[in-house]
Amino acid sequence: MTAALRLGVLVSGSGTNLQALLDAADAPFTVVVVGADRDGTGGLERATARGIPTFVCPVAGFDSRADWDRALARLLAEHDVDLVVSAGFMKVLGPAVLAAHRVVNTHPALLPSFPGAHGVRDALAHGVRVTGCTCHWVDAGVDTGPIIDQRAVRVEPDDTVESLHERIKTEERRMLADVLAGLAADPSWR
Ligand code: GRF
Repeated sequence: MTAALRLGVLVSGSGTNLQALLDAADAPFTVVVVGADRDGTGGLERATARGIPTFVCPVAGFDSRADWDRALARLLAEHDVDLVVSAGFMKVLGPAVLAAHRVVNTHPALLPSFPGAHGVRDALAHGVRVTGCTCHWVDAGVDTGPIIDQRAVRVEPDDTVESLHERIKTEERRMLADVLAGLAADPSWR
C-alpha cells in the first residue's frame, strides 16, 4: 500500500472544507499541518480538536510580503507536506511557496467566471442561473491556474449570498475530497 498523501491545509475562516478532509473516511490523504494567516479561526480550532499541528503566519508579522512568503514556505516544508491545499485561505500565495510546493485551491464559482474574493456575491449580482465551485492548481495569478474539477449549483430565485454560498460549500467539500483522492491515486503531478 502506498503512503497517504501528506497535506498541509491553509485556512482563513470557519474551516468546513478542512473538516471534510479531516472526516473523509479511509481517505488516501492525511492532514499533517494546518496553517492560518490569522489567529482565532474556526479552521485552527478544528485542527486542534483533532490533535493536528497548527501555525499562524500573519502578513503583518513580517517586514515585507516576500519575508512572509518565505516563512510560509518554510513552515509548510518543516512538516514535509506532499501537497498544499488552500481551503478558504484569503491571501494570494507568493513565489517562494509556489516554488517549493504544489498547491491546489478551491474557489466558490465556476472559473474563469467570477475570480477573486467575492465569487459568490459577484455571480449572484451578475444574475447567472448556474454557478458552482472550482478546484484548480495555483499559479502566480488570482484564481487563474489549471482547472482540476468543477461542480455546478443552480441559483434559486430567493437566494442570498449566504444561502447560495452554503449550497456551493456543500458541493465544494465533496469536490475537494474527490480531487485529493484522485491526486493521491495518480501521482503523475508530483
Ligand atoms: C469556501 O467557499 C472557499 O472557496 C472560499 O471561502 C469558503 C471557505 O469556507 N474562499 P470554509 O472556511 O472552508 O468553511
